[in-house]
Amino acid sequence: MSERAPLPVVVLISGRGSNLQALLDASAADAAPFSVRAVISNRPEAAGLERARRAGVPAEVVDHRALRAPGAFDAALRATIERHSPGLVALAGFMRILGPAFVGRYHGRILNIHPSLLPEFRGLDTHRRALQAGVSEHGASVHFVTEELDGGPIVVQARVPVLPDDDPETLAARVLEQEHRIYPLAVRWFADGRLRLEPDGAWLDGRRLDRPLTVHPGAEAPG
Ligand code: GAR
Repeated sequence: MSERAPLPVVVLISGRGSNLQALLDASAADAAPFSVRAVISNRPEAAGLERARRAGVPAEVVDHRALRAPGAFDAALRATIERHSPGLVALAGFMRILGPAFVGRYHGRILNIHPSLLPEFRGLDTHRRALQAGVSEHGASVHFVTEELDGGPIVVQARVPVLPDDDPETLAARVLEQEHRIYPLAVRWFADGRLRLEPDGAWLDGRRLDRPLTVHPGAEAPG
């Protein structure tokens, strides 16, 4: 149980917001070590904004389409985030690439969830690409965000089997279910002060993670 005030978290989304929902649900639990203070979307139509409102969390929009000058979107996003003084920024289905100045500002304080077993399948359309590659396992990764797209130190991964009759939708659904387990887990670790980014990688409980922690479906997640 945490005796500190909950860590303020700002969640960035672009769409459906099911990972946001997992974070909102975890932050509503008794003695949760973090609290979602604001949700910001780059798309006004993102369904996740409604999830935030239902949870009583401020939902804001920084529309990238209205901010086309170089650096304008990142600057406006940063100004909006700063109003909530977060200890952590959590990207949850946020589909814009953030520039180096933005990433540098929050170095060690931004996490992302990506729907693949990084370093495999960085970027978009991961489930279709995994099927095309014929892999037998696929999954999701939570990692610290650095300047390298989908390339920051990985904290935890969930692995799922790829089944013979999978299509990108069935595979995505199997992965998504696990995303909802590992993202709140990693955010809790960070909020409890157990997880941090050091120059040589991600550290958990005073040890460098030589390889990401792994969660398998059905198995109990690490504490
Ligand atoms: C999730 O699968 C997430 O991992 C992925 O988008 C989906 C968002 O779903 N993120 C990325 O692809 C980031 N590059 P959600 O809006 O329901 O959380």
